[in-house]
Amino acid sequence: MSDHQQMTKTTPKDFIAATLGGLFAPGLTIFMIVMLFLGIQYKMGETDPAPLADKAVRERVQPFGVSLAVDPNVVKVEFTGEQVYNEVCAGCHASGALGSPKFKENADWGKRIGQGYETLLSHAIKGFNKMPARGGDPDLTDMEVARGVVYMTNAAGANFQAMLKKEVEPTAAELANGQSVYAENCASCHNTGMTGAQKLTDAQAWIPLIKEGKDYLYNAAINGSFGGPAKGGNLKLSDADTKLAVDYMVAQAKSAIDATSKAKAK
Ligand code: HEC
Ligand code: HEC
Repeated sequence: MSDHQQMTKTTPKDFIAATLGGLFAPGLTIFMIVMLFLGIQYKMGETDPAPLADKAVRERVQPFGVSLAVDPNVVKVEFTGEQVYNEVCAGCHASGALGSPKFKENADWGKRIGQGYETLLSHAIKGFNKMPARGGDPDLTDMEVARGVVYMTNAAGANFQAMLKKEVEPTAAELANGQSVYAENCASCHNTGMTGAQKLTDAQAWIPLIKEGKDYLYNAAINGSFGGPAKGGNLKLSDADTKLAVDYMVAQAKSAIDATSKAKAK
């Protein structure tokens, strides 16, 4: 029966523990509430939500190499063909309003496509009868209008995708000039990858950028992109020189891409 005795017997040690517990439990609760409150206060002071949101946006756009502008007055956002269509062209072409060729209606487009890409593009940029210049949105760049044209005509049986890729290759002299503009204004970030700039040797970073086309890259370099300063921060640089630097960068990036794919092929 020693077990039973053990259970009921209150030792002086138990007694002290119980008394202390009883005394301190309310104190402990108050202490925890105070700590919780302080913790909330501390957190509110510590985390400024703005830079976090900014960081989140950067991380989301990073893999695509696409520039998302927070303030449309600071950076011009380049639309894709689908976006151009949805934002501007669909206003008429979705329904065939004003006698416009209807989206995905091959019969409406057949003859027009037969005129060839250059004519279609020129009509879309300059306007044609009731078709307003740039679909009525003067802010669209030539490349954006071209993407819109390709998006609509391809949906009606054309195959003009390749036209968007048609780019004039820079001459050796242009590349040499571009290299010196680059060395002076761009290398500080793009050689090292500082501040998140795409390193010229980083094939993975440049593949999607090159796909966007030179006009897109020129625009990003001249007007700035998310994190990339306009003209590399030297606003005295002319547009033409900035473009030469981009030409040089793209040429370098292309050889990095070639080298990587050759290495993979081996
Ligand atoms: C306000 C209405 C309207 C909007 C917006 C509009 N279009 Fe049109 N579009 C027309 C009309 C009307 C025609 C037919 C013109 C004709 O053949 O007389 C047309 C024809 C065209 C053609 C065929 C031209 C040809 O030579 O046959 C192309 C290409 C075109 N539009 C592209 C675009 C693009 C790209 C956009 C958006 C950026 C756009 N349109 C926005 C009304 C519009
Ligand atoms: C202070 C650092 C810095 C300098 C100097 C700089 N860049 Fe950049 N650049 C960046 C960063 C950061 C990005 C990445 C932006 C992003 O993630 O979209 C970038 C991106 C680019 C892109 C890709 C566009 C895109 O959408 O990402 C091009 C093209 C470019 N820079 C051209 C230039 C040229 C040309 C110069 C020199 C005239 C230059 N940069 C100088 C930081 C710099």
